[in-house]
Amino acid sequence: MSLLELVDVHTYYGESHILQGVSLSLQAGEVVAVVGRNGVGKTTMIRSIIGFTPPRRGKVLLEGREIQQLSPERRSRLGIGLVPQGRRIFPSLTVLEHLKLAARPGTDGHWTVAEVFKLFPRLAERQQHFGGQLSGGEQQMLAIGRALVTNPRVLLMDEPTEGLAPLIVEEVGKAIQLLAERELSIILVEQNLPLALRVSRSAYVMSKGVVVFRGETAELARNEEIRHQHLGV
Ligand SMILES: Nc1ncnc2c1ncn2[C@@H]1O[C@H](COP(=O)(O)OP(=O)(O)O)[C@@H](O)[C@H]1O
Ligand SMILES: [Mg+2]
Repeated sequence: MSLLELVDVHTYYGESHILQGVSLSLQAGEVVAVVGRNGVGKTTMIRSIIGFTPPRRGKVLLEGREIQQLSPERRSRLGIGLVPQGRRIFPSLTVLEHLKLAARPGTDGHWTVAEVFKLFPRLAERQQHFGGQLSGGEQQMLAIGRALVTNPRVLLMDEPTEGLAPLIVEEVGKAIQLLAERELSIILVEQNLPLALRVSRSAYVMSKGVVVFRGETAELARNEEIRHQHLGV
């Protein structure tokens, strides 16, 4: 059984029919990459999974259990963690406060504030700094840490390297790779194709609200036509 599965998901904003039948499955311990140009519905897919914009049709299954009717809070308690696009760090909370407020032992409980500081030593150095004082890279690390301390069973990451300087992209990329090696189950939305290819085993390409490719990441790397047509690379 898949850990997380989307079955023919249709999601709307008002009358705009954005996701037009998206199906996806994530196995435990694997990283699935979701790539595609701006505006194709990647964030809407993430919002459908966490419940901010619930699907109007179709199913979202967590270990076979339908969760598409549940509130985002319930889904989060069931073990869905989110690193949102744009990071959403509170300017007037400190690094430590962000992590302490989010911390929850979950089922396995590996991720404590101390473990997050091991993963991102820079956050440990800045633990008394306010969100608003952090660089973009530090905010991203904090957004990842804040999701990790909930000890999620599934981690949704929406463009974690967006807008970061190349050196920081490298650092965040290494952290994601480490999480992958620890066999955290991750849906990784990325515009940075090389990074997505490096850390994931399977990949989905979206275009205009539908999945136009699903397969092994290595196969996507070889498929010039799909890359050219849907990713522009
Ligand atoms: N809150 C919203 N209300 C109306 N339309 C939206 C909203 N958010 C996104 N959209 C539209 O939905 C489509 C998909 O957006 P999104 O899921 O953010 O794409 P991506 O994450 O792939 O860039 C776009 O056409 C976007 O303009
Ligand atoms: Mg997006």
